[in-house]
Amino acid sequence: MKKSVFQITGIVLVALLNFNFCHAQKKTIDQRVDSVLKLMTLDEKIGQLNQYNDDWNATGPVTLDSTKKQQVLKGQVGSLLNCVGTRRTRAWQQIAMQSRLKIPLLFGQDIIHGYKTTFPIPLAEACSWDMDAIQLSARTAATEASAAGINWTFAPMVDIARDPRWGRVMEGAGEDPYLGSAIASARVKGFQGNKLGDINSLMACAKHFAAYGAAIGGRDYNAVDMSDRLLWEVYLPPFKAALDAGAATFMNSFNDLNGVPATGNKYLQRDILKGKWNFKGFVVSDWGSVGEMINHGNVANEYEAALSAITAGSDMDMESRCYKNNLAQLVKDKKVPVALIDDAVKRILLKKFELGLFDDPYKFCNTAREEAALNNPAHTQLAREMAAKSIVLLKNEKNILPLSKNTKTIAFIGPLVKAVKQNKGFWDVEVPGVDSNFIVSQWEGLQNKIAAVTTLLYAKGCEIEGDDKSGFAEAVEAAKKSDVVILSMGERRDMSGEAKSRSNINIPGVQEDLLKELLATGKPVVVLINAGRPLVFNYTADHAPAILYTWWLGSEAGNAIADVLFGDYNPSAKLPISFPYSVGQIPIYYSHFNTGRPATNDSNRNYNSSYNDLSVFPRYEFGYGLSYTSFQYSNLQLSKKKINSHEQIAVTCAITNTGNYAGEETVQLYIRDKVGSIVRPVKELKDFKKIKLAAGETKTVSFLINKEKLSFYNEQLQWVAEPGDFELMIGASSRDIRWKSAFELVK
Ligand code: GLC
Repeated sequence: MKKSVFQITGIVLVALLNFNFCHAQKKTIDQRVDSVLKLMTLDEKIGQLNQYNDDWNATGPVTLDSTKKQQVLKGQVGSLLNCVGTRRTRAWQQIAMQSRLKIPLLFGQDIIHGYKTTFPIPLAEACSWDMDAIQLSARTAATEASAAGINWTFAPMVDIARDPRWGRVMEGAGEDPYLGSAIASARVKGFQGNKLGDINSLMACAKHFAAYGAAIGGRDYNAVDMSDRLLWEVYLPPFKAALDAGAATFMNSFNDLNGVPATGNKYLQRDILKGKWNFKGFVVSDWGSVGEMINHGNVANEYEAALSAITAGSDMDMESRCYKNNLAQLVKDKKVPVALIDDAVKRILLKKFELGLFDDPYKFCNTAREEAALNNPAHTQLAREMAAKSIVLLKNEKNILPLSKNTKTIAFIGPLVKAVKQNKGFWDVEVPGVDSNFIVSQWEGLQNKIAAVTTLLYAKGCEIEGDDKSGFAEAVEAAKKSDVVILSMGERRDMSGEAKSRSNINIPGVQEDLLKELLATGKPVVVLINAGRPLVFNYTADHAPAILYTWWLGSEAGNAIADVLFGDYNPSAKLPISFPYSVGQIPIYYSHFNTGRPATNDSNRNYNSSYNDLSVFPRYEFGYGLSYTSFQYSNLQLSKKKINSHEQIAVTCAITNTGNYAGEETVQLYIRDKVGSIVRPVKELKDFKKIKLAAGETKTVSFLINKEKLSFYNEQLQWVAEPGDFELMIGASSRDIRWKSAFELVK
């Protein structure tokens, strides 16, 4: 290819620059960024703000574009998404290295719960309340993905969600800002590792900024309308936790917030994120969300959309092409100062330098490392352990569980028993060249565990959806021949996730009718419920003697379920989100206000905030989960009953394992501010501890209460702790309160 004088100059300049870089150790990264920026044309600067989907896969509406390669060659693309594997990423990077300034590409991917080794969906992992395990899950995912050419994950999704009609509830950490913040921090640390630039470190991306989970009606992409106080108190804390944990990037959200689309929302991106919080990373828009501001009716065309987004602090444009097609004109029209573009470009270049891509654009493209990382048995074992920790024991009448490994005959029935890929849930990664036989189905998991001793009978019984009951007879026959029945049912994995909102969250099809037939045989029935969201299953909850909520558990689903069913792992998970009796109760969450006419129990519905036709309480509450053993709480002690704002209270409580199995208990600390300048929730989670106890063992759990845990945003959005009386609750769930006490905050 003939090179112009211009290009030769650029190559010489870059060579000098590199020479300078290698030998001028004193140059800081900021100076290196400035050195590159000075060489860039406006077209190349705009190129860094442009992100395209590769043609391998799509996670949004696709724009056909056959000129991507030419654009990369001209330095008009800063990043690709949905491009995985060392071969494919290396090929694209080689093209970028032919551009004038050889600025390396970023490769972003939704590494949400694993790369090749698939971990439980994030909402399931949140049930573990085990921050070390959650961090390790993200770490493992980052180790695999970074070996496959990827250096940026669009995770963690930290959207608080209190509406299970919203399909993306599966992707987050549930309803509570305290638990959600702890998990956001753990996931960022897991993905990013010790520091950006380490070979197995991925840039994290806290998303979707902000309040995407509060979409009206639980309908994805829908409007969000809330007070600033609610935004600050509930929806922003996990983002701040992610930022404090060092999140390198943020992704804004599709929704409008109080009438202003997040992508063009200065209040969110400039005032809060880059202003008050002093965020130094960069913000990527969500897929096409810059251009979608036209649909919102907030801008009239792509020119205005680009103006709105860049002004509001959206640095990189994912897939809309509004920046590529309009920013140069906006600069020419003096609508956008180059300084604004320079700020966005510098934020992106800074991350490319921190990742080490300028020093070695192919550092993430080592095929041998990829091969080793994607076939590491330690990852498989970690996935199995995380899956077992994510399974919630909802019911266990007469201790039917754990099952004996000497059970003679088990009938394993249901549409999900032999499913394979279903176990991966939504937001899994289809790794090129890797087939799905490494995924352990539920059938295979039980075979692995008990086939030597037990006869395992199978019948599908019915499909997930539809009203065909023709398979019932075979299922009933199998049940009659068995000593115990296991029924695996639920929704399909693609019934939750992005753009998967549902108005009806009952168990679909005739699956509960099948359960009724199986129960009629008189055999004990254990039910497994596979889902990406809280479902409604009142018949099952009322009639099945044992229920495990198995979510979508990933590659090791079958082995983990077998570990729990047969007692090799004692379930310890607790729900991070309320399960309603009915979709009519939504939104439903534990940290609600008391109201002027509180509904305190279902027996009194006169002139209070009850429903006349249903309980106001959830079917299963936030923090709920059973164990094969039992725990007694005793000896609650407070070091003080009165503190000022500079003091703290030490809280201790003894926990005894009073059962026959070793197990883990998550002890939860809730606080209620009895009187506030604005009303305060009836309780708020302010700390938790997960402890292991051998049968009969007692341990003391301790917490510290300080001003921070008593503070809230008042009417003026000031973060304050107001003097007065507080109630303290120690619970095994948000409703199963084992100890109560009180204390006073004085001036
Ligand atoms: C999707 C999602 C976002 C994801 C992005 C790239 O539309 O909203 O969470 O990271 O596009 O796949």
